Amino acid sequence: MSKPSVYVTRLIPQENIDALRERFDVEVNAEDRALSPAELIEKVRGRSAVVSLLTDNITGEVLDAAGPQCRIFANYAVGYNNFDLAAATQRNVILTNTPGVLDDATATHTFTLLLAVARRIAEADKFVRAGEWKGWAPMFFVGLDVDGRTLGIAGLGRIGKNVARKARGFNMRIIYNDARRDTAFEAESGAKFVDKETLVREADFLTLHVPLTPETRHYIGATELKNMKATAVLINASRGPVVDEKALVVALREKWIFGAGLDVFENEPALEPGLTELDNVIVVPHVASATPATRVEMGKIVVTNINKVLSGLPPDTCVNPEVLRR
Ligand code: GLV
Ligand code: GLV
Repeated sequence: MSKPSVYVTRLIPQENIDALRERFDVEVNAEDRALSPAELIEKVRGRSAVVSLLTDNITGEVLDAAGPQCRIFANYAVGYNNFDLAAATQRNVILTNTPGVLDDATATHTFTLLLAVARRIAEADKFVRAGEWKGWAPMFFVGLDVDGRTLGIAGLGRIGKNVARKARGFNMRIIYNDARRDTAFEAESGAKFVDKETLVREADFLTLHVPLTPETRHYIGATELKNMKATAVLINASRGPVVDEKALVVALREKWIFGAGLDVFENEPALEPGLTELDNVIVVPHVASATPATRVEMGKIVVTNINKVLSGLPPDTCVNPEVLRR
């Protein structure tokens, strides 16, 4: 009997590919670029499982092209807004993600951006490289205090909680908003639940960890940016469309807020015109989970899920569990 066929839409760590090859006939996108929608449709045909990325839109059309023998699309990401959940559930296709293993990396990256914006690291680095540094000065590159300031967390999932735990090392006051209140975590961390308006108004640093859904699209828009402190910093390592990027460019240019640190963008890799002309924003290319160990651990979840599903077992991290109850 031939081995089930698995397609991987872009190169992931070799050890994960090797693990898949132990049991499956594996094809990996040979080019190091995202597939176009038409290429994706061509490539998934006849597969038993597909490893997808957050840049692959898994629509009903893609699922139909894969065919009814295809049991699982395993996302190599924790976020899964690239999946059409309803279309997959309707077709009995299992969708999975990679939660948990990237919380430390993503929360650390969040702090990296937060500290870098607060202390104007990118701007200062550019200044020194340009040969403009003429010597020490007291009023030079004065940034923001972080220790003891208020950290606002929007979305208290695994990553939001990890950020809160790290913030305790900076003795920060933690406020959060989420669809659900978590009193056990409040007791553990001292975090205080507040409504969204209070979160936006009181945060010295506002960091976003909500998933992208119709409800969280433009969670931060012009109104919220106007309500933030003029000394506040916005950090986004969730999904770009959670922030109205056009409004953010205006807010940064007109100094409604002190600055922003962005790992994700509304139409990435395209950037809102004007964004990179501003000194009070740090932009990095969606790399929050980009550490060697994290990337391998994400792959292990993908491999385990595919192994289980193609053996007739439920996967560990299903995002449309309705299909498992049938
Ligand atoms: C990255 O953005 C992820 O969702 O894992
Ligand atoms: C998802 O992003 C989470 O917080 O687990």
